[in-house]
Amino acid sequence: QIRYSVPEETDKGTVVGNISKDLGLEPRELAERGVRIVSRGRSQLFSLNPRGGSLVTAGRIDREELCAQSTPCLVNINILVEEKGKLFGVEIEITDINDNNPKFHVGDLEVKINEIAAPGARYPLPEAVDPDVGINSLQSYQLSPNRHFSLHLQTGDDGTINPELVLERTLDREEEPTHHLVLTASDGGEPRRSSTALIQITVLDTNDNAPVFDQPVYRVKVLENVAPGTLLLTVRASDPDEGVNGKVTYKFRKINEKQSLLFHLHENTGEMTVAKNLDYEECSLYEMEIQAEDVGALLGRSKVIIMVEDVNDHHHHHHHH
Ligand SMILES: *[C@@H]1O[C@H](CO)[C@@H](O)[C@H](O)[C@H]1NC(C)=O
Repeated sequence: QIRYSVPEETDKGTVVGNISKDLGLEPRELAERGVRIVSRGRSQLFSLNPRGGSLVTAGRIDREELCAQSTPCLVNINILVEEKGKLFGVEIEITDINDNNPKFHVGDLEVKINEIAAPGARYPLPEAVDPDVGINSLQSYQLSPNRHFSLHLQTGDDGTINPELVLERTLDREEEPTHHLVLTASDGGEPRRSSTALIQITVLDTNDNAPVFDQPVYRVKVLENVAPGTLLLTVRASDPDEGVNGKVTYKFRKINEKQSLLFHLHENTGEMTVAKNLDYEECSLYEMEIQAEDVGALLGRSKVIIMVEDVNDHHHHHHHH
């Protein structure tokens, strides 16, 4: 048995081996003695060059197409020396070159992670495949540098590498609602080939923020003769959580019964209105606590101070005070 090897993807006519020498003949004898390739099918990959006496490639050979992942990639042909009526077996190994990039099955990936997820949580990442073999096949993955995630590589029984994203530091949607990472898959060939997949992390909201009032104290002056229904002020609390988690309702927190009849705080708009006629003589200063509450019962607090101002025309007794 004669053994040769030739790299894949070489030009047509590349010398695989000196067949005349290995058959113990002179190059010119190949024709004289009726030497020819007799195997079917794969024999088309090679031909004889009668002048040089060598076995040459008959075209480009793609190792991945021929043998896929199996190694070594061997092609067996028979050469007949007709004059002697003898068959010689020739085994040719097609060696791999690094002609393929690792490829991701899915291009880009969105991973949704709740902001309460604990460090250590793992999320599967897309895998890449490189049809080359050995060192020319996929060897490693890298994750772009970032503050929150690391890469964990789990090697399966069959040798495949499964990349996983590991949460290292807690996420905060209000600080950074999305993170963009790049996963790179590389082979070990010379030169090294690689490809990338974009990973978008979408941070899902948790109700982790309490509403906060714009002001710790709201002060407002009002004339005692304003009509019931008059708007005094609008309080506002903001909650950076998303959607329904950020929805706020307003209420009096501490208010005596008398005051609760005089003022009205609109639950949704934060508008505070006068509900009844005020009387400077009776009381010139009201102080009440208000609260803002979100759906998770997280609270924010503030104070409202209302100063009622005297209207001289309408009152005759205030001078006595
Ligand atoms: C192949 O070997 C023969 C001897 O059998 C020699 O004459 C010939 O030059 C060789 N061909 C090449 C291409 O080296």
